[in-house]
Formats: sequence, C-alpha cells, structure tokens
Amino acid sequence: MIRFILNNQTIETELPKGFTVLDFVRYRKNLKGTKIGCREGDCGACTVLVGELIDKKVKYRTQTSCLMPLANAAGKHIVTIEGINKENGELTEVQQALVDESGTQCGFCTVGFVMSLTNFCLDETPKTNEMAVSAIDGNICRCTGYKSIERAAMKLCDKSEPSAVADGLSCAIEKEIVPEYFKDINFRLKVMSEPAALNRSLQQTVPTRFVSGGTDLYVQRPEVMVHAEAESLFDNTELRFIKESDDFVELGASVVVTDLLESEVFNRLFPNLYKHLKLVSSTPIRNMATLAGNFVNASPIGDMTAWFLALNAQIELSKPPASADGRTAQTRNIALKDFYLGYKQLAKSDDEFISKIRFRKNFTNFNFEKVCKRTYLDIASVNTAISLRSEPPASAGGSSVITKAHVSAGGVAPIPLYLRKTSEFLRGREISQETIAEAHEIIQTEIAPISDVRGAENYKRLLLRQLFTAHFVELFNIKP
Ligand SMILES: Cc1cc2nc3c(=O)[nH]c(=O)nc-3n(C[C@H](O)[C@H](O)[C@H](O)COP(=O)(O)OP(=O)(O)OC[C@H]3O[C@@H](n4cnc5c(N)ncnc54)[C@H](O)[C@@H]3O)c2cc1C
Ligand code: FES
Ligand code: FES
Repeated sequence: MIRFILNNQTIETELPKGFTVLDFVRYRKNLKGTKIGCREGDCGACTVLVGELIDKKVKYRTQTSCLMPLANAAGKHIVTIEGINKENGELTEVQQALVDESGTQCGFCTVGFVMSLTNFCLDETPKTNEMAVSAIDGNICRCTGYKSIERAAMKLCDKSEPSAVADGLSCAIEKEIVPEYFKDINFRLKVMSEPAALNRSLQQTVPTRFVSGGTDLYVQRPEVMVHAEAESLFDNTELRFIKESDDFVELGASVVVTDLLESEVFNRLFPNLYKHLKLVSSTPIRNMATLAGNFVNASPIGDMTAWFLALNAQIELSKPPASADGRTAQTRNIALKDFYLGYKQLAKSDDEFISKIRFRKNFTNFNFEKVCKRTYLDIASVNTAISLRSEPPASAGGSSVITKAHVSAGGVAPIPLYLRKTSEFLRGREISQETIAEAHEIIQTEIAPISDVRGAENYKRLLLRQLFTAHFVELFNIKP
C-alpha cells in the first residue's frame, strides 16, 4: 500500500510501486493538466511539486512525474496544476504573470512552467532574476519564445520575496500563489502512517534491484520499471545525510545534486558550486538525481562521477542479510576509482548497494569543467575535474608545489576515468606552464576516446587538453 497526498486528497493505492506518478495522475485520477511530452525528463511538461517533511517543515521541490515511481511519492505531498488553481477561476500571480508577458501560445508547456515558477515562489532561495530564470531551466517551450517567459519569471521576483516574519510557504499562501489547504499539509503528512519506502531499515530489505531517483532507469527501461520489484532507496533516511568531521565529509548515497547545492558544507568547500552544478541536468532532475544512481549508472560522462573521482572518494557498499534476523548489513569500502572494471561493469554484486560516500577535505583547490553540444540541460561530450593540494596554498599567480592531486576525465574511455598517471605525475611538481605541458602528454597516453555523435576521437583529445588547461587558468590564472 502506498499512501500520499495528491493535491488536497489522501491517496491509498495498491498499484505497483514502479507505476509512474504521471500515469497515476492522468489515467487513474483523470487530472489531465499535467502534460506528457518526452517521457524522458527533458521537456518539463509533466513537472509536479513534491512536498516532503524535512526538519518538521514541508519543503517543496519540482520533479518530472514521468520518471518518478509511485514508491517515491510515499509519505509526500504531490501537487499538480489542479492543486494550485483557484476555485473561483481567477489566475494565480504566476499564471497572471505569464499572461501579462505573453508567455504562452499553444499552452502545452505552460503548466510545467507554472509549476516550476510556483515552486520558485515557495522556495526560500534569493529572489534574483538569475534564480528566477534558473527555476525554469527544466522547461522547454517550442512556440512562445523564451524572452517573454523569462520576463514573467523575473516579474515574480519582486512579488515573492518572503517577508521578515513569514517563510516562503506562508507568504505564498498569503498571496494566494498556492491555496489555503497547503497550511494543513504539514500536520497531514505527520499523522500519515510511515510509508513503506520511508524509514525502512536497511537490514529488512532483500532487494533484487535498486531504484533511487529513477532518472536513468525510467529513461532506459520505462516499461520494465513499472512492474520491476525494485527497492526504492530514494527516501531511506539512513541514506540522506551530509556530515562533516575534522578530516572527512561523509554523504548518504541517496543525496541528490540539489542537496549539495543547498549544503553549507559544500558551499564552503567548493566556492564555485553553483556555477559548476548548474551545468548538471536541470532543476527537476537535480532534485531527483542521486549520487549513487550516477555512480552505478556508470556512464563514462557522468558528471557527479567525474566530480567524486577527482575527490578520490571512497564508497561503502552494503549487502543486506537474506532474512530480517537483526544482523547488521554487511559492508565493505572501495575507492570509487576501483569501482569501474569495464564498460558498465562494476566491482559489486547485484545485491550490493552503495550506502555511503566519503572523501578527505585535504585539498586546497577544486575545479570542474564540462563541454556539451549546448551549455545547459545536456550531457557532456567531455568533462573533467581536479582536486589539488598546493603548498604554500596557491592564490592567483603564486608559486607553489602540488603535494596532492587527483584528476578525472569523462567521455574519453569506456568508463569514467581516474587519470592515475597524470595525478601521480602532478604530485611534487611546481604549478607552472611546463608542468601543464608535460601533463598533457601523459593524459593523451591514458585516454582512449572513440568517435561518436558527441565528437570525433581527435576532437575529444583536443577538448580534454583544453579543459585540463582550463583547470589551471581558473584556479591559478596561468595562461596557456
Ligand atoms: C533530462 C536528464 C538530464 C540529465 N542530465 C545529466 C547530466 O547533465 N549529467 C549527468 O551526469 N547525468 C545526467 N542525467 C542522468 C541522471 O540524472 C543521473 O545519472 C542521476 O544521478 C541518476 O540517479 P538516479 O537516482 O535517478 O538513478 P536511478 O535511475 O534510480 O538508478 C540508476 C542506476 O543506479 C542504480 N542505483 C541507484 N541507487 C543505487 C544505490 N544506492 N546502490 C546501488 N545501485 C543504485 C540503479 O539500480 C540503476 O542501475 C540526466 C538525466 C535526465 C533524465
Ligand atoms: S514528459 Fe517531458 S519531462 Fe516528463
Ligand atoms: S506555448 Fe506552445 S510549447 Fe510552449
């Protein structure tokens, strides 16, 4: 039994946990406002709000319902356009802004934009024009043109700044951006009995296969996933944390990219976090995409995989016992760089899942570079990340020696690549043009790109060369 709140209605359903939220709202609840476009997470026509109790408050995020299994709706508030429309037929401020700025023509995409912008108003992030436009980075419109939609988004900035006393949700209720019934959702989620997917102890699960955010699985195998007996790890609270100690940062495997963006620890350790993570998918996908999902998908161009390879991260693999006999899960640790054995071949058994990720904080500099066919909402042609420790710590133009180095590269081999020889070479070298030039030669011996739709072999070799140089331009202002 899966239980959640859909708009203002409590839902209890025995449907398969792999059934998508999109098909549930449209075909089981006849809520046809949510549209079907690509069914691959790209267009945003199916965007819904997902409210979850976090630290006693309901926090809303957008998700693409086409990739969201019902299991991941358990214990949450799912909101479609019908759940925010005013009963008297008037438009909400968000809808009115789109009308005023001529932000809609055929209307097919409009519901998705309204949901994303409504979430922007609910959210407590700064209400800048940049953030307003970012909020719709997962929505595609094929006929209106984006300038009018962007104007509508920016218009909401002035209107949705939370007051000093009220939080984002209270403000949005007061301004009728969302209806009054949102006030009771906190209480209703609290009293709703614990859903199966939530708080389930890892020791009691014997999964045949795992699903987390579903953003890879539901694109690759949508039909199979509906009836797959997959264990959802997305809401397991034991897998959703970010902890810092003196030397390490430890994360639960189900941390999503947005959690990193909102983490104080990550913002402190990675000063360009927003700039870099903006290059990863779109807002709704970042709200769903887990780190473990990215690692296990084993795409050679996985962005978070490149990121954590360059942190020389360790992963913890857990294996639940075959029966719920109270024994603790069996665990073992492995370096992420040793996890990839060949194309989509992993150093793990089918019943092992990633439970934790850990990396040392002993770097002084970190950079991430990604080139795609288009800047946003695209997968990489080539990506790379680097973490360095330089002594004395190098600021722009300073002369320092690299004492620790880890470099990764994606899109240049059948697996996400940790550049072992290059990393080794950099240790003990001065940060200089000569070091970069010598490292280039070593990199070329470590990679084996193939020509495909993302570029010819030689182009990818050249691209990685340029991106590796870009690390040093960004970090130390060393010009090539
Ligand atoms: C529109 C769109 C844009 C995207 N853009 C990007 C992008 O820019 N960069 C990028 O890197 N990726 C991108 N992706 C891919 C995807 O979002 C990421 O790979 C994401 O991190 C996958 O995580 P998930 O939780 O959704 O994985 P799922 O789909 O839930 O799972 C993926 C795989 O991981 C396994 N798995 C999940 N959790 C665990 C676990 N804890 N232990 C063991 N196995 C596990 C599953 O069994 C499955 O094999 C995009 C996807 C879409 C749909
Ligand atoms: S239908 Fe296109 S993102 Fe879901
Ligand atoms: S208004 Fe037609 S697709 Fe956006």
